Amino acid sequence: TGYVTIDPGYKNTGATKSAITFLDGEEGILRYRGYPIEQLAEQSSFLEVAYLLIYGSLPTQSELDAFSNRVTKHTLVHEDIRKIFSGFPSSTHPMAILSSITCALTGFYPESINPNQTAEQVDLTIVRLLAKMPTIAAWTYKNSIGHPLSYPRNDLDYCANFLYMMFGYPTEKYEVNPVVARALNKLLILHADHEQNCSTSTVRLVGSSNASLYGSVSAGINALWGPLHGGANQEVIEMLEAIERDGGDTSKFIAKAKDKEDPFRLMGFGHRVYKNFDPRAKIIKKAADEVLQELGVTNSPLLKIAKELEEAALTDQYFVDRKLYPNVDFYSGIIYKALGIPSEMFTVLFALGRLPGWIAQWKEMRENKEPIGRPRQIYVGERERDYVAIEQR
Ligand code: CMC
Repeated sequence: TGYVTIDPGYKNTGATKSAITFLDGEEGILRYRGYPIEQLAEQSSFLEVAYLLIYGSLPTQSELDAFSNRVTKHTLVHEDIRKIFSGFPSSTHPMAILSSITCALTGFYPESINPNQTAEQVDLTIVRLLAKMPTIAAWTYKNSIGHPLSYPRNDLDYCANFLYMMFGYPTEKYEVNPVVARALNKLLILHADHEQNCSTSTVRLVGSSNASLYGSVSAGINALWGPLHGGANQEVIEMLEAIERDGGDTSKFIAKAKDKEDPFRLMGFGHRVYKNFDPRAKIIKKAADEVLQELGVTNSPLLKIAKELEEAALTDQYFVDRKLYPNVDFYSGIIYKALGIPSEMFTVLFALGRLPGWIAQWKEMRENKEPIGRPRQIYVGERERDYVAIEQR
């Protein structure tokens, strides 16, 4: 009852107070718990950032060691989860498997569905998810190519272990390339939280009904999968490849993106909140140059096309008027590709990075005892009418 105002897409509606991530779209500022994203991307590790987001402050060395040890202890998944993998057709998109298995964790840890878990029990539920996600994520890839699923190696850190499970084989010794591990660490940090975006709002909304962490994050993974959200990173690389196949003429694709009769959008461009630049894109663009150089990729046609596209769009009135800039997804795929990660896995990487943010936001929502999320509507359907027997319709 009372007034209902409609705000499609929640463009001007705040749903919560939050102390996790600060974002100023006009100034291009992003901070986790007050720390600028530029400093974290340069100096921190992904697990340290996860700790920061979830617990609110940077850990001391002993706190970080204890946290890393706990996460490392829980990297194995139940053997029955392997069996679930084998039930998926090999054509299944890895995001579908990731969300399904994340939800299936409730079956292996039934206590996680109890909304009255103690703080220690909630913490164990959180640590398990952080620990198992890289294993599950890497297995979605191994399963898709029909290769044996590699067990985690607890002598490796979070990023290196993920890379080992992605690219290692039981038959040979695997050496983690430090350039690759560093790049992955940076990308995961840059994706770790982004306040009330579509997937995070989904996690909070689902969790507001007292649904489990695993169920809530599983829903968030599906929200992230959409091409307007995290799925854009796969779309960007496929778009760049299409431009390359087409002869590399970016102007044709810019014209298509501007044509209102054509549903095509320049993937990796535009953002709901950033109207000046996306600070993450700036860091990733620089990282793309560095990583390609360090890996000895001297000629990347896709990077060249991406830069041309950016240049052309930034000087085009259509994009200027609408304040459309490259977003986080524009250059990330170029790095992922250089690291040897196939494009179907790009959004999985995004999910792996966003996980600490989802967890922190779910935990904050619970600790703040927020009410169940339940938007209203304005009804525009039929007025009351009488039921008509089927033979008289
Ligand atoms: N290419 C061409 N035109 C665009 C684009 C684009 N990528 N993005 C927005 N526009 C136009 C849009 O057509 C509209 O024009 P008009 O005012 O003439 O109708 C105007 O710009 C405003 O766009 P909007 O769709 O109303 O803006 P929004 O805030 O609802 O959508 C967005 C934001 C990110 C969904 C959108 O910019 C988009 O679809 N971008 C491409 C997909 C993408 O890269 N997504 C990743 C987002 S960042 C990371 C993440 O969330 O995962």
